[in-house]
Amino acid sequence: MRGVGPGREEAGATARAPLFTGTANPGLAEAVARALGRRVGACAVERFPDGEVSVRFEEPIRGCDVHILQPTSPPVDANLMELLAMVDAARRAGARRVVAIVPYFGYARSDSRHGRREPLLARLVADLLETAGVDEIVTLDPHTDQLEGFFRIPVHAVTAVPVLVPAVRPLVAAGAVVVSPDAGRVEMAGRYAAELGTELAVLHKRRRTGAEVEAIGLSGDVRGRNCVLIDDMISTGGTLVEAARVLREAGARPGFVAVATHGLLVDGALEKLAAADIKRVLVTDSVAPRHEASTAVQVVSIAPLIADALREIRAGEAPAARE
Ligand code: R5P
Repeated sequence: MRGVGPGREEAGATARAPLFTGTANPGLAEAVARALGRRVGACAVERFPDGEVSVRFEEPIRGCDVHILQPTSPPVDANLMELLAMVDAARRAGARRVVAIVPYFGYARSDSRHGRREPLLARLVADLLETAGVDEIVTLDPHTDQLEGFFRIPVHAVTAVPVLVPAVRPLVAAGAVVVSPDAGRVEMAGRYAAELGTELAVLHKRRRTGAEVEAIGLSGDVRGRNCVLIDDMISTGGTLVEAARVLREAGARPGFVAVATHGLLVDGALEKLAAADIKRVLVTDSVAPRHEASTAVQVVSIAPLIADALREIRAGEAPAARE
């Protein structure tokens, strides 16, 4: 059974509820709580031998604003169910409001149907969260802005650009080009290009399967230049490996840098990226890092961004609700 133990009481704690976390990324919850001068609350999250989830808040939360941090990263379904169970438990315990902080939002890529007999899972997950009793969502660089439209409750989307740009800046050589690996990432890559003062190139991609992609075109001049690839997530690494292949063929300088908000890094992604000459990878801790620390992979914390978002939500509430 895996569980999340009681948090520390810090001096000067107010009557506010602490920050609660599921088991997906307790390290990030600790960092966010520290940034807010709060603590991580006691909530037992366990699994029965058959895999069913069991959740119990171990301190009173009646009348409180309850903030629950849980990315729905792999194992996606287990982490999602855990979040739903925590929200339901909080509601049934009399929480006044429930804010779900979902730094990585699993199933966000299922935001449109490509065939007549396919589901729309981003919408289904939104419905599940609302039905469980979430009042507001905080998320980070969702796959598409469209995600907000699947909810009737407020969605507070934060971007990791303010922490990733300073981290990548020292790795950006003079004359480098920022590259969007597909049309869906042009806006995000454009923002990096603007902040880093580089040109922008765009690849056009076709996905064959969950792990196989094919680049079908490149707009922009990369010959003899260093390239910085920007994506919202690295899952299997297939997209960036294919991007690197096309950039090499187009005469780009060897030794690519890749920046992505969400480092899922499944299915041997890091080894594939290294073999594709992607020498440095920068991701955030929206997903709990599962790989060994190395010079090739740098993890940048989003804790200050999430803390700011929670402060902003709180500041926007009526004064009576803040006490
Ligand atoms: C796709 O549209 C996304 O923005 C990412 O490019 C993609 O999901 C990354 O997955 P993978 O690393 O498996 O190619």
